[in-house]
Amino acid sequence: MAGRLAGKVALITGIGAGMGVTAATVFAAEGAKVAGCDLDEAGAARTVETVRAAGGEITAMGGVDLGDPAQARAWVDAAVAAYDGIDVLYNNASTQRFGALDELRVEDWDFTMRNELDLVYYTVRAAWLHLKRHGGGSIINVGSIAALRGVEFMPQNAHSAAKGGVIALTLQLVVEGGPYGIRANVISPGLIETPNTAPLLADPPERLRRLVLDRIPLARHGRPEDVVNAAVFLASDESSWISGSNIVIDGGGSVLG
Ligand SMILES: NC(=O)c1ccc[n+]([C@@H]2O[C@H](COP(=O)([O-])OP(=O)(O)OC[C@H]3O[C@@H](n4cnc5c(N)ncnc54)[C@H](O)[C@@H]3O)[C@@H](O)[C@H]2O)c1
Repeated sequence: MAGRLAGKVALITGIGAGMGVTAATVFAAEGAKVAGCDLDEAGAARTVETVRAAGGEITAMGGVDLGDPAQARAWVDAAVAAYDGIDVLYNNASTQRFGALDELRVEDWDFTMRNELDLVYYTVRAAWLHLKRHGGGSIINVGSIAALRGVEFMPQNAHSAAKGGVIALTLQLVVEGGPYGIRANVISPGLIETPNTAPLLADPPERLRRLVLDRIPLARHGRPEDVVNAAVFLASDESSWISGSNIVIDGGGSVLG
């Protein structure tokens, strides 16, 4: 398949729902061979069907819990073997729990760290030797604007801290990976419309509308393509001298004081 990612092998996590579906679809349409995974087996299978129906190349493993280092490694090894290589690792998957500081339980904090930060470390760790052997590649980690400022409308302390960890980890990957041709970048989305957030956005509580949605200079909320298009760029050779960037995709909202 021709395209901006022609011939590239892209490992994408969390392809079973939300932006991961768009990521798998757009990457395959741009010519990548996609090796995906998700905890949700049925969701992963649906995405495989969608991508193949559109003529794309994809293989996926369902029922993979990336918060378990052994499962993360098993998926990465199988994904690399499937297409005999790796050019891109796109860490999209995450789950989190929200709660005010004095209400969030320690197990909610631990759950969030495991499913937003640890899983990124585990997949990178599993892919590292493959990337080195391959002569380099592009790691794309999904952060969030939650890591960049506090907000009044959501008690996101664990989520912010975990995504802050993703950004900090990425900076170190830049330095340790550079000599091997490994690039690492972050994409930090604002509020994006996905099946999960669509009901909220269709009928936003007054506070969310006032504090967030009315304060987006580009005057609309985000779409999965807004995020995935940046990932295509970071996965492609067009960004071959870009490492350590954090692309904020929020319609300009986070620059407002
Ligand atoms: N939607 C937004 O507004 C928004 C904003 C900022 C950042 N983000 C980030 O973008 C990324 C995608 O978000 P989304 O809204 O599409 O999420 P989503 O919840 O719709 O989909 C996430 C997918 O990841 C999978 N997943 C979660 N934990 C996993 C695990 N331990 N092992 C394997 N798979 C797992 C889920 O099963 C799900 O299919 C996430 O990293 C999220 O934090 C989203």
